[in-house]
Amino acid sequence: MIIKPAIKNNICVRVHPIGCRENVKRQIDYVKTKGSFKGPKNVLIIGGSSGYGLASRVTLGFGCNANTINVSFEIEPKRNKTGTAGWWNNIYFQQFAKEEGLKYKDFIGDAFSFEMKQQVIDYIKREYGKIDLLVYSLASNRRTDPVTGETYISSLKSIGKTVDGYSIDINKECLKYEKMEEATPEEIQNTIKVMGGEDWDLWVEALMKEDLLEEGFKTVSYTYLGSPATYDIYHEGTIGKAKNHLEETARALNTTLKEKYNGQALISASKAIVTKASIYIPIFPVYGAILYKLMKEAGTHEGEIEQKYRLFKDMVYGEEPIIDEVGRYRPDNLEQDEALQEKVKEILNKIDNDNLHELSDIKGFVDDFMKINGFNFDTVDYEQDVDMETLNEVELY
Ligand code: NAI
Repeated sequence: MIIKPAIKNNICVRVHPIGCRENVKRQIDYVKTKGSFKGPKNVLIIGGSSGYGLASRVTLGFGCNANTINVSFEIEPKRNKTGTAGWWNNIYFQQFAKEEGLKYKDFIGDAFSFEMKQQVIDYIKREYGKIDLLVYSLASNRRTDPVTGETYISSLKSIGKTVDGYSIDINKECLKYEKMEEATPEEIQNTIKVMGGEDWDLWVEALMKEDLLEEGFKTVSYTYLGSPATYDIYHEGTIGKAKNHLEETARALNTTLKEKYNGQALISASKAIVTKASIYIPIFPVYGAILYKLMKEAGTHEGEIEQKYRLFKDMVYGEEPIIDEVGRYRPDNLEQDEALQEKVKEILNKIDNDNLHELSDIKGFVDDFMKINGFNFDTVDYEQDVDMETLNEVELY
């Protein structure tokens, strides 16, 4: 099969396996070039197949020789369907990890369920005894509560007002007008249920109950804070409320973990990047494309791997943490630069389809989108026939 990109409503419905391999490889190469550091031995990552979770896995596996267990929700390739990028990222992570002599395991399924937690617990008991780090990097639009069986859908909406703006049409590389609707109280609660800290807490509780946490155990989850330019759509919207809940969860977990294991629960605020999840957030892509341009010009632009390498090496396991007044770890510090944010705001106010290419890095933004789906790598021959069945014959461990 010759695989060409197909984008519908800003979702890439086809992915390229060899390009996904390249995406994983480039992250591994980055970590190897930057060098190893002392960190955790046995790590569990929830949502480690793409975006910030995959970058965390690569950093910890290839940066500190950690054994990594990943739980992610993927679609397997079938007939002329290419599967999800995360499916292939897992396969190639495993291949590279095997070459390196690292131990790895992937669980494919619903991290929110009790069944998945039990499978992972059984595996940790059998293979490791205990873990010393849990990274919670899940992004989802729905969650079935394992206690009640009720399914909740999250909303990406504003609170108390509607917000007008532009988003990016990836296919046409142009702006499209978008309105962010005001959320109902129920939509706010449902978003908290999906993207808040409840499931993170359930994971820690389940692991603690089975005595699977090492002395000094740490757990980290990711938030986005952004700047006044994005407050209406993120920090002060439904997703921001869910992230507040995540932070409350971190505070409670931190107290318990400190007491029992001399451990720590952390929140880290990350920089805005293109991922499968972030592309859905209305208006956010325009902010992202402007930010990319300005940060690239200033030489401060980072992608997921640079962010996570810095977080773990310098901050979580290093001596140079950047911590804010409420204790969050802040590798998003470069995005927060005041002068930079002033410029972003100024451009946001005047951007239109005529000046889009001049005032934003829409090309770079779309290129990142293509790359997370395995396209646009100059090292991959996209005219080559891909035998997906053979590529997929690898057994996932
Ligand atoms: P992503 O879409 O690349 O990754 C999400 C991961 O969650 C994938 O591995 C996916 O398989 C997994 N997942 C989704 N539903 C699942 C389920 N039911 N069971 C098991 N796994 C499931 O997203 P991204 O952007 O890397 O998000 C990760 C975290 O980083 C989120 O908390 C997000 O809010 C945060 N973050 C993202 C930023 C961005 O600009 N992308 C900025 C700051 C924070």
